[in-house]
Amino acid sequence: MARTTSPTISHRSARLQVVQLPDPSGDESLAVAVRDGLCSTPKTLPCRFFYDAAGSNLFEQICDLPEYYITRTEDAILAESAHEMVAGWVSDPIMVELGSGSSTKTRRLIRAALNAYARLRYVPIDVSRTILETSARSLVAEFPNLRVRAIAGTYSAALASLAINLDRPKLFVFLGSSLGNFTTDAARSFLREIASVMQPVDRLLLGTDLIKERSLLEDAYDDRQRVTAAFNLNLLTRINRELNANFHLEAFEHRAIYREDQGRVEMHLVSRVDQCVSIADLGLSVEFRAGESIHTENSHKYTVERLAELARSAGLAEESAWTDPDGLFRVQRWMLSR
Ligand code: AVJ
Repeated sequence: MARTTSPTISHRSARLQVVQLPDPSGDESLAVAVRDGLCSTPKTLPCRFFYDAAGSNLFEQICDLPEYYITRTEDAILAESAHEMVAGWVSDPIMVELGSGSSTKTRRLIRAALNAYARLRYVPIDVSRTILETSARSLVAEFPNLRVRAIAGTYSAALASLAINLDRPKLFVFLGSSLGNFTTDAARSFLREIASVMQPVDRLLLGTDLIKERSLLEDAYDDRQRVTAAFNLNLLTRINRELNANFHLEAFEHRAIYREDQGRVEMHLVSRVDQCVSIADLGLSVEFRAGESIHTENSHKYTVERLAELARSAGLAEESAWTDPDGLFRVQRWMLSR
């Protein structure tokens, strides 16, 4: 993998910059993750590898599924309250978005902020440079008073690079219940990392999914059209392509279960038969027993109490919060606790 040693600015215009941060280390590569994950017991693969071009496409389709209430519920909350979410600064704040969210949701916040402040600087952070570039271009075309400085890199590297740019009030935005992919410990340290670059005037807008009835949760991750199954199985297609493996997709079954004890939906790929899969580029063959699973994703669901605890343990405090009428989803605005 090509590795850069210093940030490169790949695209520049008066209102648009795309900054590529250096790759932190090979530890984050697919090869290393597959070797580690498939050689451990139980077998696991990190969910961040879902999002190649095909996977990102499938995820967009998931967001429109009738069973996947998350996207449309969060969007309805934003549609109703975006103006309150961006309120509170005297002049133009910087909006820093972690993960390039669905453009619909981002546009609601940008529109509300431009209404309130006339000018806005938007800083989207994402590992995928192509997604960043496409969305940044269309945003500057659509909003004449918007300036975009997109950062391609990991959240940690990008947050560290922001720390030297603390001149204006900031609104950090982390939507879509993406926090749910972190374990509780990882979520806490991630929130601490955000808190460490926050000033007293800054705010964090966080969208999280709430605990609800099991059938609703499991259906959201196991839809009738089998789009989520295809999304999960695409991980194997990606490993076949990028590491010369010979996974047979028909030999694995998509499974989604809500583990109430853990407060999370887990996705697995379960081997239908005893089999041996070879991953040529790693010089590795992996044995599967019938019924053995690869754990591919956790999506944590929260209670209001757990969220308050999480905020407190990260040095943050709630300023305000918004939910939908059915109490499915929650968006909260946090600040540094005094
Ligand atoms: C984008 C991480 C929030 O966990 O709900 C959707 C990803 N996985 N269907 C989620 C996902 C299966 C999604 N997040």
